[in-house]
Amino acid sequence: MSRPEQLRQEYESTARAAHYRDDRWTRSARARRTHAKELALVDGLVQRCRQIQQSPRLDWALDLPCGTGRFRSVLESHCTQLLSVDAAFEMLTAAPCTCQLQASAHALPLVNNAADLILCSRLLHHFETSDERQAVLGELARVSKRWVVLSYFDQACFQAWRNRLRGKFRGRFPIAAAQFAREIQAAGFEERARHYICRGFSEQVWVLLEFAA
Ligand SMILES: C[S@@+](CC[C@H](N)C(=O)[O-])C[C@H]1O[C@@H](n2cnc3c(N)ncnc32)[C@H](O)[C@@H]1O
Repeated sequence: MSRPEQLRQEYESTARAAHYRDDRWTRSARARRTHAKELALVDGLVQRCRQIQQSPRLDWALDLPCGTGRFRSVLESHCTQLLSVDAAFEMLTAAPCTCQLQASAHALPLVNNAADLILCSRLLHHFETSDERQAVLGELARVSKRWVVLSYFDQACFQAWRNRLRGKFRGRFPIAAAQFAREIQAAGFEERARHYICRGFSEQVWVLLEFAA
């Protein structure tokens, strides 16, 4: 079974979807802080796209993967139309909305340049190989007209170092910043902004990418 299909199946569970919606981001003070910080970061980055484009609103945004929709209201506050996309049916049905689609980020059933902006939160770090990540980045580059707000796991931090030392395999794959730079460049993106959830400690990094090819 391919890694994308294996990952989709991990999320095809009513219990897991309910946990993600009801507990994942509220279960501890740290989870709540990270969630609040990520909402604020995404809000700031999308606002920056609007400012650069000098438009009061973006037209179409894609939330990919949308999970149980924790970024929905932030995206709706900046964009006229929102399409929520996820590979797992259970995640979509745990937080239904008017415009949603079950599809894989590796093969989006959407035309080229369909969206002004794509938010790709907490997906890329699930893939170990450069080929798997580049298949996603290629689809983002094809479907977005210009902007992608994306998170990945950076290996230059305490969390990644501790996991390596403990030999802890969690199905999450931090990569070097230089590797990330090569992969986005191959997809035709340039990095316009970068924010760390907790620099030096946490693996999670957020970037604003602009399609430049
Ligand atoms: C960690 S959750 C992140 C959800 C959301 N982006 C967030 O930050 O709350 C990962 C999500 O990716 C979805 N997923 C896994 N593989 C996928 C793929 N190949 N294409 C699209 N979605 C996928 C899962 O169903 C799950 O909803």
